[in-house]
Amino acid sequence: MTDEELIREAFRARERSYCPYSGFAVGAALLCKNGRVYLGCNIENAAFSPTNCAERTAIFKAVSEGDTEFSRIAIVGGDVSKPVDGYAYPCGVCRQVMMEFCNPDTFEIIVAKSVDDFSIFTLKELFPKGFGPDNL
Ligand code: THU
Repeated sequence: MTDEELIREAFRARERSYCPYSGFAVGAALLCKNGRVYLGCNIENAAFSPTNCAERTAIFKAVSEGDTEFSRIAIVGGDVSKPVDGYAYPCGVCRQVMMEFCNPDTFEIIVAKSVDDFSIFTLKELFPKGFGPDNL
């Protein structure tokens, strides 16, 4: 799957965002090493703290279906009422969850404004010196 195709999937996921409180809609598409793709959106809550980010929704869907080996994730986010106009970087909690399952040197995080405007980082670039399973 190309970066562009994965970004398109993230935009599809964003359409399902449940964000009545922040108005910030996020979509993520997670590519597994076996080729499967899991979509995730942010899911907010009236009590605020139970809110789940799009990236974690996608990762938890994958793990709960038995897929734990990932190669890339595409993320798109912005004001729900407008086209995406900035890069939505994963929050610290999502970076920590990625650290649990992904190789920081090879897992790629794609932040996109559109299918032809995106940047790619390794997990290590966005989460240097992170704490993971290898530290225990
Ligand atoms: N959000 C994500 O879905 N992913 C992130 O990595 C950052 C933040 C969501 C959570 C909340 O619903 C909204 O964006 C505003 O913070």
